[in-house]
Amino acid sequence: MATAIRRLGVLTGGGDCPGLNAVIRAVVRRSAADGIEVIGVANGWKGLMEAETIPLDLTSVSGIIHRGGTILGTSRTNPYRRPEDLARLKATYRRLGLEALITIGGEDTLGVAAKLVREGLSIIGVPKTIDNDLSGTDYTFGFDTSVNIAMEAIDRLHTTAESHHRIMVVEVMGRHAGWIALHAGLAGGADVILIPEFPIDLDEVCTAIQKRHERGKRFSIVVVAEGAELKPGQGPPPPTPAAGRDPSPAGERVAQDEFGHVRLGGIGQMVADLIGRKTGFETRVSVLGHVQRGGSPTAFDRVLGTRFGVKAVELVLAGEFGRMVSLQGNRIVSVPIAEAVGRLKTVDVEMYQLAKVFFG
Ligand code: F6P
Repeated sequence: MATAIRRLGVLTGGGDCPGLNAVIRAVVRRSAADGIEVIGVANGWKGLMEAETIPLDLTSVSGIIHRGGTILGTSRTNPYRRPEDLARLKATYRRLGLEALITIGGEDTLGVAAKLVREGLSIIGVPKTIDNDLSGTDYTFGFDTSVNIAMEAIDRLHTTAESHHRIMVVEVMGRHAGWIALHAGLAGGADVILIPEFPIDLDEVCTAIQKRHERGKRFSIVVVAEGAELKPGQGPPPPTPAAGRDPSPAGERVAQDEFGHVRLGGIGQMVADLIGRKTGFETRVSVLGHVQRGGSPTAFDRVLGTRFGVKAVELVLAGEFGRMVSLQGNRIVSVPIAEAVGRLKTVDVEMYQLAKVFFG
């Protein structure tokens, strides 16, 4: 049902990602066309709890489409951890006079949005994550940029690996899904790609590398997603995970965020050590880390973010709350937020089989 909206809020939550500013700009520009005031909520859900706002107008969103990060700031705050936080958030929403809220985020931020919708808040979701692991959309913005960054790094690592006749292990982001590793590895001509969906078989990895060497190739590139795990018995024993928490695949117990995710890291080094020991080849590791999330978005992500932002405002105007904008084929459509966060979109066996054609 269409409603006459005069004031809407927009927030960015979770890990930042190239293209966020393109969405914010599009939300403000499309809203201005209908005379809607846009309030920027700073630092994700934390800002809505603490009433930290940034007024947005045509001037404040001018010249930001090419900029990485988010002009609104972000946080990994979970308002459902304590009842008083949730109460504060809802009170601020009312006090600011928001008639709708456009929430740009990934699995965690949109998970909170889905719950708030059930409590009566008028929310539209916009899918964001470099990991591309949200269901309900073919792609999230930010993914294309990070794949290109990782691909360029792989290209550069190729030349040094070749000069030194080394195995180069490249660790990329990807907590539960190997989309970045798979796409960057395919595009960069990696010799082995290891992802969270398929436990690592070291014998298989070393055989692929050895076969390459027998063919006269004296270097190899192995791309590994940060969330990949060794097959049981192939590395040091994993720690016992706390109930309801992510286990740390690399065997480290480190800091957890408010959604219970441990900080990952270490699988690249572990795989490199094991390959080196097993094959006798000289091995090095490169961990790309947050470089994959920083800097200017690609044209694809700027355009996708822009299309998402415009569609989000149109859903607000149509009163279609509780929905998330989504890319399906080349069309921007919408799906229920709850459906998108219900399960992660992971790499299927067919896609991984395709990647395996190029192993070794
Ligand atoms: O944005 C998702 C992600 O890139 C994951 O792949 C990664 O584990 C996580 O963010 C790390 O983010 P941060 O260091 O900001 O907590």
